[in-house]
Amino acid sequence: MDPGNGSDILPEELTASVESFFDTAPPLQDSSLISHKLQAFIDRNSKSSEGGGPVRVVCVTSGGTTVPLEQRCVRYIDNFSSGHRGAASTEYFFKAGYAVIFLHRRGSCQPYCRYLPEDSFLDFFELGEDSSIQVCQSHSTIVKKAIGDYQNAVERGQLLKLPFTTIFEYLQVLRMVAISMRPLGPYGMFYHAAAVSDFYVPWESMAKHKIQSSSGPLDMRLNQVPKMLSVLRKEWAPMAFCISFKLETDGNILLQKADMAMKKYHMHVVVANLLATYKREVIMVTDNGSINVCSQDEYSDVEEEMIKILVDRHSKYLEQYRIEIIGLS
Ligand code: PMT
Repeated sequence: MDPGNGSDILPEELTASVESFFDTAPPLQDSSLISHKLQAFIDRNSKSSEGGGPVRVVCVTSGGTTVPLEQRCVRYIDNFSSGHRGAASTEYFFKAGYAVIFLHRRGSCQPYCRYLPEDSFLDFFELGEDSSIQVCQSHSTIVKKAIGDYQNAVERGQLLKLPFTTIFEYLQVLRMVAISMRPLGPYGMFYHAAAVSDFYVPWESMAKHKIQSSSGPLDMRLNQVPKMLSVLRKEWAPMAFCISFKLETDGNILLQKADMAMKKYHMHVVVANLLATYKREVIMVTDNGSINVCSQDEYSDVEEEMIKILVDRHSKYLEQYRIEIIGLS
């Protein structure tokens, strides 16, 4: 597996649109807190694991980004992503011994909460005769397991949750995460399951206040969001193992688009999925062929097999790095 990130530098046009995106984005509210949390997390996890080698760290992106239409935002463009893929994958990465930076949409699906009933939170509990709060008998096994697994990950210091809502927040936090993961070299991994907006309204050309319907039909021009995958591979974290996703609605173009993404953005794996079937089947496109992965039944997760394959690929990638380093010394 080629560890290269494509030696060519970023095209000038892309560099300009990336700079313009970050220069004009509204600044992150809590960037110093995020930076502090990231530094502590990477420091803790870059020390040796029980097995002797450094801990592998994966950044899982999850859920959809919004595109605000007004600075004092009343309306925004959103997408369908629930964050289930990212949450489920996070659980299987933990199982495989990875530390996870879970970069997720606020309010989207969370690891270990996927099995909890969708109904009201209040349905999990009941009042005892002495007014104490108890977990309902019918949900108790599921709730106890969720709490236990979640606490275990948090206590081991292997979970860092970073939320986003808008495309501006998402890309700014992603850049911070990627740059802070750079020292991990090939032990870092990116798993881009988030559904990232392709178009946005630049902050400076956005209406300040609520757009008035009395002004008639709305005519709005959206700029293209620069694809940050190339920047991540070439500049932010060039040695990390990188997986992106390709979502399409037309099965006839899916594999061709995934293949293109693989080459254009120098991804190690592209996971191709169709809107109609993405919950139960995906095609993992690699540099030596494609692998179809399907869930066995409605109770099993397609993510379980996907993560097994990715962990194995990541091991091979690390092995190749070691061989190259030995070769150089
Ligand atoms: O959350 P769920 O409901 O479980 O759904 C999971 C999923 C269907 C969202 C997930 O499996 C998936 O396919 N995620 C990627 C969706 C997507 O944005 O596809 P895309 O073809 O538009 O983008 C391809 C890749 O480029 C993505 O990995 C994205 O992170 C990246 N991208 C996209 C736009 C952009 N401006 N910059 C990017 O880097």
